[in-house]
Amino acid sequence: KRNIIIAIDGYSSCGKSTVAKALANKLHYVYVDSGAMYRTVTLYFLRNNINLEDDSKISKALEDIHIDFHKEHGITKVLLNEEDVSEEIRQMPVSENVSAVSAIKAVRKAMVKQQQKMGARKNVVMDGRDIGTAVFPDAQVKIFMTADPKVRAERRYLELKNKGENITLEEVFENIAHRDYQDTTRKESPLIRAEDAIILDNTNMTEEEQLAFVSDKVSVIA
Ligand code: C5P
Repeated sequence: KRNIIIAIDGYSSCGKSTVAKALANKLHYVYVDSGAMYRTVTLYFLRNNINLEDDSKISKALEDIHIDFHKEHGITKVLLNEEDVSEEIRQMPVSENVSAVSAIKAVRKAMVKQQQKMGARKNVVMDGRDIGTAVFPDAQVKIFMTADPKVRAERRYLELKNKGENITLEEVFENIAHRDYQDTTRKESPLIRAEDAIILDNTNMTEEEQLAFVSDKVSVIA
């Protein structure tokens, strides 16, 4: 029997990872945060001053980058060459550069290959921008998440504030709008709803309601 892939794509800061994680926990599937992988590559590029026009530097860097997810006590850490970068990849310098880095063809090729490997034999819930369109076009369940941009900015702002980040609501709003623009207009697998993806607009939904919504879609196929 084929393993099951649940693809959750959508705009920035929609709460994709919250739903994806809850669903993976409930079903005992593996959760893969594909955005964390692009963020980790971005962090490496920033630290090593990789010029985004320099193809040979980029391919060398991609060979030197090893990304792992390590789950311990229910919390998943993101490792860059064994170093825990889970916190740093959520900070603004990475958020401001990740969409430019993830528009690079060689970067996408390397990440998609790893993502396909992760979902080759296991049941997985994977969230991102191109999971249902490019990474797993045959995924059994595809969800496309969206929400009012103002609501998204407020949610993300509170989250960053709680972590002690010094940031304004306007800055968060601008970053989300800018990433949405870059992600939907790029040449390489832009963010777009797969024809067979079910839309989930969570502007006015609680986390429980969202989990119930996606669980219901999965119950039809599993
Ligand atoms: O999901 P998250 O917001 O952490 O993703 C960060 C960025 O990584 C996105 O804005 C997008 O530019 C890129 N990304 C992507 N393809 C994916 C997941 C994320 O291009 N599958």
